[in-house]
Amino acid sequence: MSYPATGELDTPTAGLIDHVRRAVSRYSGIPEPEIIVSENVEKYYDNLAPERVNAQLEQVFHLMWELNRVGLGSPDLGNTGHARLPLVQALRLIVADLRAVAGAEPLQYTELGPEPSKTTFILRSLRAEGVDLRRYTGVDINPASRETMERELATLLPAGRIHYQQTLFSDLARTDYRLPGTRNLVTMLGFAEGNEHPTAVARLLDDILRPGDLFLSEMQLLSPSGWSPVFDFYRTDLMRKFSEITLHRSRPDVESEYCVFLVPLELPELDSPLMAAVTAERIVGVPTGEPGLFVTNYCLKFSAAEYLRLRERSGQFVVVAQRTTADGSIAFQLAQRK
Ligand SMILES: C[S@@+](CC[C@H](N)C(=O)[O-])C[C@H]1O[C@@H](n2cnc3c(N)ncnc32)[C@H](O)[C@@H]1O
Repeated sequence: MSYPATGELDTPTAGLIDHVRRAVSRYSGIPEPEIIVSENVEKYYDNLAPERVNAQLEQVFHLMWELNRVGLGSPDLGNTGHARLPLVQALRLIVADLRAVAGAEPLQYTELGPEPSKTTFILRSLRAEGVDLRRYTGVDINPASRETMERELATLLPAGRIHYQQTLFSDLARTDYRLPGTRNLVTMLGFAEGNEHPTAVARLLDDILRPGDLFLSEMQLLSPSGWSPVFDFYRTDLMRKFSEITLHRSRPDVESEYCVFLVPLELPELDSPLMAAVTAERIVGVPTGEPGLFVTNYCLKFSAAEYLRLRERSGQFVVVAQRTTADGSIAFQLAQRK
């Protein structure tokens, strides 16, 4: 198996990393040549041995799982001093919306970026309502989640219905993973959509979903009541660890300092600037002029209105429901392909 080398991906993402570098440079004062930004997907597989699970990829997958476990298990995440609607409740509400839209029809469930805790939560809720889940397909470039997903889903679905595709999302439509005649529910959770240029996401969805299919996504939002949840999230030990692993995969053993930026990106394809949260490692002891800032993650952060508008921008999707935590900082959005 081989994947396109950096910069050859058929998406505008290559442009996105230039915008990230420019914005971080402008707002940190660090010159652009001193900032390294890699393709998002490079964090998740080893180009020299793409099919092999190694310890770092395993760690990356387990960190994401832990983040979700902690998030769903926290009765207060997303509440304010005055209102209660935590993450787990927002998820419960969107699953009820999904049930209402899907009706009694059988479903195929396709997860872009498999993660066990939210997926078992959703599958369990759908099963409890009697939904006939004909096939689950986990899709990920990182092979590390395959075994865990098969094990965690074993009590919810018969083995023959659990599938895994180790592939780029953009190659999925060219595989024969579809069950003809069955409505496809595609999920992209864990703010993963924010790692891609909105135009690339729209193109991907146009490619994967057929009329009537459903798309469930989760994003961290910029709430009018304050942006501190964004910084709180990226300051957690789990996100710091994720950043450190990403750095050490390409620069083993270097000493570094963790940084978080929230910067506006001017993307020419879109009318207005979009904000991006960027985590980076400032490598200690690098001479001036050499690349000393290593960007470990970038994730677009929309307002609730932007999130809705971006989905409907292509004219191919209608947003059926958007459920947000009480503080407005995390939303689940359900959309249907027209
Ligand atoms: C931000 S994580 C989100 C994981 C999970 N859905 C969650 O809720 O936390 C993104 C996941 O998608 C995978 N991924 C990211 N970009 C990809 C791409 N272009 N093709 C295939 N897999 C990709 C990564 O390996 C990772 O497992």
